[in-house]
This record gives sequence, structure tokens and C-alpha cells, in this order.
Amino acid sequence: MLNFELYNPTKLIFGQNQYDKIAAEIPKESKILMAYGGGSIKKNGVYENVIKALANYEYIEFNGIEANPTYETLIQAVTIIKANNIDFVLAVGGGSVIDGVKFICAAVNYEGIDPWDILAKGAKVKSALPFGTVLTLPATGSEMNSGSVISKKDTDEKLAFGSPLLFPKFSITDPTTIYSLPKRQLQNGVIDAYVHVMEQYVTYPANAYLQDRFAESILKTLIEIGPKIIKDQTNYTLASNFMWCCTMALNGLLSRGVPTDWATHMIGHELTALHGLDHAQSLAVIGPNLYKVQFNDKKEKLAQYGKSVWNLTGSDDEIAQKAIEKTQEFYQLLGVETSLSKYTSDYKETAKIITNRFKTRGWIGLGEHKNIDLKKVEEIVELSY
Ligand code: NZQ
Ligand code: ZN
Repeated sequence: MLNFELYNPTKLIFGQNQYDKIAAEIPKESKILMAYGGGSIKKNGVYENVIKALANYEYIEFNGIEANPTYETLIQAVTIIKANNIDFVLAVGGGSVIDGVKFICAAVNYEGIDPWDILAKGAKVKSALPFGTVLTLPATGSEMNSGSVISKKDTDEKLAFGSPLLFPKFSITDPTTIYSLPKRQLQNGVIDAYVHVMEQYVTYPANAYLQDRFAESILKTLIEIGPKIIKDQTNYTLASNFMWCCTMALNGLLSRGVPTDWATHMIGHELTALHGLDHAQSLAVIGPNLYKVQFNDKKEKLAQYGKSVWNLTGSDDEIAQKAIEKTQEFYQLLGVETSLSKYTSDYKETAKIITNRFKTRGWIGLGEHKNIDLKKVEEIVELSY
């Protein structure tokens, strides 16, 4: 097992009807910016619950944070915060709203000229406004991690950043919020959480038995409940297990002491930026093809995954191959297309565009061995057409 540190200060408040606890978590004299998305919270009762909880605070609303939140929108919130001496932000929504709020909180205190440099140039986040979240869509784990992914309309880019200063102070995670989710977002949530686990598990053996069991248990639970939840989303047992899986899949626990990959995400982000695929759709397209191209490096863990998660038998090579097929079939069973050409007819230059972008950014060695070079990226993307 590799050496590690574990730090996660987020207070998770999990379960039904916990909105009245918000007030105990935000300092009394705070002036709050309540940030949300395109309005789903006004249709499912979440907005009313949050407003009730904020009754004794001074607050301003900021709405319109879009899926795949953009710099252009978020920078408007930064201006509002500065003009109104806001000192706490409450994100109410899915991963996009929460990620957007992380960027807002970092950008407000940014001392350089353009906060986009936090993403484009890796400029360090030296301080950030405190924020809490009310999660309405289980998928990203953003409610209990310190990462964020932001897009820029101007350049069609989608980039990630993170800082230990950007853990939510608290997160209200009520599984009943999924009752109003469109089917597509349920499919996305299962796949995003699944791939988060795969990125931290299907690498090479690191003698980290407990981490492997953590990963396998989340994958098995998602396989068990994923298809059911799409048919029966108002079942609380399914909803609560689903939400907890998503949080646990990316709250920092699984990656402790083990190598991690993340290349599926880095390539997938480009499919969203270039062709507008949902985040999880991009992962369903890239993931299985990345395992094929990286087969020799990943086959030991693929075989372990095939045996432990899919109960496959045969030689290790056969099991590893079959495990890739099983993964792709699982995404399809959930109702998600796994080829880029199913989402766009304009796909033929995609591999070239992505490798050119990676070259410019110096991303020439991705994955747990840093050996996914531009040639392999091209191969993975072309296999995904
Ligand atoms: O904007 P509203 O009206 O709220 O509608 C949203 C949005 O259209 C809707 N929605 C959310 N909760 C709902 C609901 N509709 C009905 N009922 C509810 N309870 O769902 C749509 C999608 O929401 P979004 O927040 O975009 O989805 P998700 O949570 O999947 O977030 C995706 C974003 O997170 C990033 C992705 O790249 C993408 O930008 N990621 C963030 C990560 C992180 N911070 O750690 C890791 C992930 O790998 C991922 O990259
Ligand atoms: Zn993801």
C-alpha cells in the first residue's frame, strides 16, 4: 500500500427532512448567496425547504448555473458577492451547481487578474469563501470532495481544479430529491459513480485489500440497484443506497494508498466540451475502450474485477476481456449509448482535435503509469467512434 494522508472535513447530513439543520451550520450573522441551477428546485419542494431554513438570514439568490457550469455565468456571481459583502455561499443543486460554487468561492478571493488561470494555468487557490451544499442529484461526489470542473464557452474548454480549501462545510443529502430526476440523470448518476470507482480501482495491484473491497462493494451495489432505480425511483431504499454509493465513490476514501487513473475523465471532458455529451455519457463512451487499449497494464485488476464483481470464471486473460464487455453491457442495460457516433454525426476529427489540445497543454502521459501518450489517446478515441 502506498503512503497516504486522509483529510475530509465535510459534515454530511444524510437522510430525509434535514433542511432545518442548515441554520445550525451557517454562522448567525452571515450574509448568504444562495446559488442554484435552472429551476428544478422550484418544482420539487427543495427551494421552499431551503428558503424556510434561511428565514433568519439575509440572503441573495443567484440562479441559472447551467449543467457543465461556465466561467461566463459564474463570474457574474463573483461580482454580486463583491458588491454585497456576501460571506457564505449555499449551493442548491447537482454537481454542476456545487462545482460552480466552488469556483465562485475560489475566484472571489483570487489575487491575480483572471480567475480562469486557476483552471488554465493551475494557479493556486490561497483562500476561499466558505460554502455549504444541498445536493439534489447523486452522481459526482462533489458534495463531499474538493474538486470542481468548469467550462469556458468562449474556447469550448472543460477543465478541472481542486483545493483542500474547497471542501463544503456541510452537505444536506436527502435521497428523496431523486424522486423528481429525469430518467437520463438517474442513468448518468449510476454511470458517473461507477466510473469514479473504476478510475481508482482498475489500475494495477497495490496490495491494498481494504480499498479493493471498498471499491468492489460500491460497484456491486450499483450493479444491483442501478437498473432498479431507473424503473422505481421513488423507492427510498433504492434512493438512499444510490445516493450513499455516489458520495462514497468520490469523497477521497477509495483513492487513499492506491494508484489512480482518471484518463477516462480527462478524455471524456473533451467529448462534453466538443460535442455536448453529458458527463456520464462521455465516460460510458471512453471507459471500455480505454481498458482495451491499456489491457496489458490493467489486466491483473481487470481480472480481479471480473471475478469479484461479475463472478466470471476462466483464465485471467479471458476474465479480464469479458469484464470489459460486461462493463459496456451494463451501461447499455442502463439505457446509455456507448459509441460517440450515437451522439453526434460530426465525430470524425475528434481524436485529432483532442490530441492537439492535449499536446498544447502538455498532457502527454496520462493514467496510473503516465503512459497514455497522444498516440494512445488517439487510439482510444477512434475506438470510441
Ligand atoms: O439546473 P436544474 O434546473 O437544477 O436541473 C438540473 C440539470 O439540468 C437537473 N436536476 C438536478 N437535480 C434535480 C434535477 N432535475 C430534477 N430533479 C432534481 N432533483 O439535472 C440536470 C443535470 O444536473 P448537473 O448538476 O449538471 O448533473 P451532475 O450532478 O451529473 O453534474 C455534472 C457536472 O459535474 C462534473 C461534471 O463534469 C459535470 O460538469 N463533475 C464533477 C466532479 C467533482 N466535482 O468531483 C467529478 C465528476 O467526475 C464530474 O466531472
Ligand atoms: Zn465523473
